[in-house]
Amino acid sequence: MESPFKSDILKGKVALLTGGGSGIGYEISAQLGKHGASIAIMGRRKHVVDSAVSALRSLSIQAIGFEGDVRKRDDAIRVLESTINQFGKLDILVNAAAGNFLVPAEDLSPNGFRTVIDIDSVGTFTMCHEALKYLKKGGPGKNPSSGGIIINISATLHYTATWYQIHVSAAKAAVDSITRSLALEWGTDYDIRVNGIAPGPIEGTAGVRKLAPEEISSKRREHVPLFKLGEKWDIAMAALYLASDAGKYINGTTLVVDGGLWLSSPRHYSKEAVKQLSRTVERRSRDAPVGIPRSKL
Ligand code: COA
Repeated sequence: MESPFKSDILKGKVALLTGGGSGIGYEISAQLGKHGASIAIMGRRKHVVDSAVSALRSLSIQAIGFEGDVRKRDDAIRVLESTINQFGKLDILVNAAAGNFLVPAEDLSPNGFRTVIDIDSVGTFTMCHEALKYLKKGGPGKNPSSGGIIINISATLHYTATWYQIHVSAAKAAVDSITRSLALEWGTDYDIRVNGIAPGPIEGTAGVRKLAPEEISSKRREHVPLFKLGEKWDIAMAALYLASDAGKYINGTTLVVDGGLWLSSPRHYSKEAVKQLSRTVERRSRDAPVGIPRSKL
């Protein structure tokens, strides 16, 4: 699908994306690149990173890839330094690396819980922490009065509670909290805008394959207000909006891109039934003698 944004809105910018080699992370890489940014991607699997870089280059995007695990601070430092060596600066950091699997809480070992917290929450903090000196105003290649941008990929699982997702819900709650704290501290001190995106179920991603296999998703689709799964493109457009000047006054927010799914709940009555019921209840309460408790109506 064609982008509604001008193709040069990120001209001259440099973006580093963790988890940028596949899924939502790759689509964000491609769209930031198509809109003018040079792209560095970081991922654990070398062959995935390599083929993503080739695909980006085939779109005439300046791209480079690094093998690295966000759980390792040394990897974060090395990949950031290499990005600066290659492109001279960093303007946009997208934290898209994540881990997930379905598991009932009672079957999840503390190490399984910790693994996801380490990737999603600690990994996001580590990348932000090590990127600060490059992203802040006056950093290498930066204007003395304007800093860079961080986008953290989150989820909506923790807005209520989600079955078999205790680890990821806790991890993403921490990510949202990190987004707000850094928006406050680094927005004030360094002119860095920090925002998040909370995708709903996005077709063709590891998230949907792992969490909503076809037999579950076809039933759930009835409850999605817009009645469809999202596309990776939807998330990439949200990232473009936040990363471009269109988002220059947005700081500390997590943009939900889920078609309204997290608000949804099963419809217990049809509209017709509600109209009937509502009038009957009104009539009963109008006709009832004064003084009768409502519970007796
Ligand atoms: N159910 C229950 N526990 C599980 C599990 C599952 N499906 N998968 C992993 N675990 C547990 C392991 O048993 C282990 O705990 P233990 O030592 O107490 O046994 C712990 O999690 C770490 O597992 P391990 O396989 O060593 O971790 P890893 O670092 O190789 O992989 C994962 C990390 C598990 C998050 C893996 O799913 C992954 O790499 N995911 C990345 C891609 C992804 O999930 N994308 C979706 C984003 S929405």
